[in-house]
Amino acid sequence: MEQGNLFVYDHPLIQHKISLMRDKHTTTKEFRELVSEVATLMAYEVTRDLPLEEVEIETPMAVARTKVLAGKKMAVVPILRAGLGMVDGILSLVPMAKVGHIGIFRDPDTLQPIEYYCKLPEDIAERDVVLMDPMLATGGTAAAAVGFLKERGITGIRFVCLIAAPEGVRYFQSKCPDVPIFCAALDERLNEHGYIIPGLGDAGDRLYGTR
Ligand code: URA
Repeated sequence: MEQGNLFVYDHPLIQHKISLMRDKHTTTKEFRELVSEVATLMAYEVTRDLPLEEVEIETPMAVARTKVLAGKKMAVVPILRAGLGMVDGILSLVPMAKVGHIGIFRDPDTLQPIEYYCKLPEDIAERDVVLMDPMLATGGTAAAAVGFLKERGITGIRFVCLIAAPEGVRYFQSKCPDVPIFCAALDERLNEHGYIIPGLGDAGDRLYGTR
């Protein structure tokens, strides 16, 4: 499904795995594996429009005129900490991608997003960037991460999450109209604590068994 620059990938395998992730009885190990598997399945679609160039390759039989990825290569940037769970899944399909990391917290007094960690590949401005966080809840962190990346001259950003709330989609689209959102499920709403309903709980806690 496509709504403006929101793409919801509801392939049956993705829906099945997202349902297993939602189940509160799913173990930490299973949850981690499912996040990685869904990220791999989504990488297939997220990379659908990467440009190709024609090359000549010698097979054992003849010279083939065939295609390889052209120009810009990819970088994946997980938002700490839950985004880390998606990295290996994407890299299994795009092993040449480089990995940057960004960490953001919300100042408890001002509620402003503060970047507390950022380490990016040196050539990231020449790459297509896949920014990742499993949950697009209020959209504040994701939009702030895009802002911090753009301040460094980075363009060509796409945002990939597993579950999005309509409120988060609206906020993100208002702040980052040029950044497409790819998700696996669009849920009902946010609750008063900023959690997605029905969602899957706290993705970081479920990935790392911290609660
Ligand atoms: N972050 C999470 O991990 N889960 C939510 O439901 C919202 C934000």
